[in-house]
Amino acid sequence: MTEKFHLGWFTNFAPPIWEGAFSGDIGSTWADGRFYMDFAKALDRAGFDYMMLEDSSMVSDAYEGTSRADLKHHLYAPKHDPLALAPLLASVTTNLGIVCTASTSFYPPYQLARAMSTLDHLSRGRIGWNIVTSSEDRAAQNYGLDHLYEHDARYDRADEFVEVVDKLWSSWEPDALVMNRETGHYVDHTKVSTIDHKGQFYSVRGPLNTLPSPQGRPVICQAGGSPRGRQFAAEHADTIITQSRGKERMKAYRDDIRARAEHAGRNPDDVKLLFIVNPVLAETDAEAQDRRAAALAQTDKNVERALAHLSALTEVDFSQFDLDAPLTQDVETNGHRTTLAEFLRLGENGAKTLREAAAGWNINAVDLIGSVETVADQMQETMEFVGGDGFLISGPMTRQYISEVTDGLVPELQRRGLTRTSYEHTTFRDNLLSY
Ligand SMILES: Cc1cc2nc3c(=O)[nH]c(=O)nc-3n(C[C@H](O)[C@H](O)[C@H](O)COP(=O)(O)O)c2cc1C
Repeated sequence: MTEKFHLGWFTNFAPPIWEGAFSGDIGSTWADGRFYMDFAKALDRAGFDYMMLEDSSMVSDAYEGTSRADLKHHLYAPKHDPLALAPLLASVTTNLGIVCTASTSFYPPYQLARAMSTLDHLSRGRIGWNIVTSSEDRAAQNYGLDHLYEHDARYDRADEFVEVVDKLWSSWEPDALVMNRETGHYVDHTKVSTIDHKGQFYSVRGPLNTLPSPQGRPVICQAGGSPRGRQFAAEHADTIITQSRGKERMKAYRDDIRARAEHAGRNPDDVKLLFIVNPVLAETDAEAQDRRAAALAQTDKNVERALAHLSALTEVDFSQFDLDAPLTQDVETNGHRTTLAEFLRLGENGAKTLREAAAGWNINAVDLIGSVETVADQMQETMEFVGGDGFLISGPMTRQYISEVTDGLVPELQRRGLTRTSYEHTTFRDNLLSY
């Protein structure tokens, strides 16, 4: 008997697929937020734990030294601010968690703590924060830095950042709001204190100027893959999203995180790991296999998209390498190290050329391909092997695909008792930790 597992969806506030046969006018209307409001409603109806909005803040010119490919394929830009979208999503949903990405390398802690507290109120306790340290010099240059801080140093700063925002979120005692009509006090000032933080990187007086929010602390999401990143995630995160590839490595990653969490004095069951997948669904297994083959075709467009994307997140210009030579192993990055390492593994011992590796590149934990019954079987088997805790769906951004998952796959999972049919609680964290 498999235990129930959790579902999240990995997306961003950026153009969906705009040139498809069923795309309608989405290319010119997505930015008003209504596509994302419909999307969030579908996830709320299907019992998803959360919608995770990734983010970055740059137009990349890492590929060929120009922004041509980035903008042509809308890879890193345009991308709009998830914190501004969140209240719209909250206003049309009742239980869905909404995770916004914000970078500890660029935000001042006070501003982040205040924004998250405000959003937690607006969503009635359903906001999450995906803590990232960012990966690109190009983004750093939009915030007054010449270069991004070195990889492990970014996590040292992030540790202190989290310490500061936690202090700010606790700077009001939960019962500070008294609304005493007899004395005329709205807030009791003895329950609101400065934090007087003076650390290595930050100096913040406090207190925060927002009311204590429904969750107090937003749900913390993280995606660290390196040893330093894993340690950070295991210490702070309620949910971890991960790109470990293959069942054995998924299990090893989960076991490692759980051990690190326990070592840090936490209950490992309080950290829910969601593994990235991109289910390819169709009426029949054969049709789904055809769809998958079409998506993997070594077309110039697919190859350029993949390489420009990899270039942006590693800031290594992949246009400099011969497409038909074995994939070089001689590349390093200060950006997404885990993603680069996974990509280079495709070419180990000359296994694949750059073109072949690029065309087949994805960050899925396992391949899920087939009818809804077949994919539900595959998800069930994977969770039984790994031990839990759930999947983070990422797939082609179309209304059609959202419906395939929420009206096809999820009902099949629900029939098997594998995912929830209704929410247990009202706040995001309580739902996430309910099983
Ligand atoms: C599913 C997933 C989502 C991520 N989302 C973002 C994001 O929105 N913004 C960002 O700057 N980095 C993002 N990252 C990068 C991670 O924060 C992290 O830097 C990366 O996984 C590499 O791990 P490391 O920092 O421990 O080397 C994401 C990574 C993964 C696997």
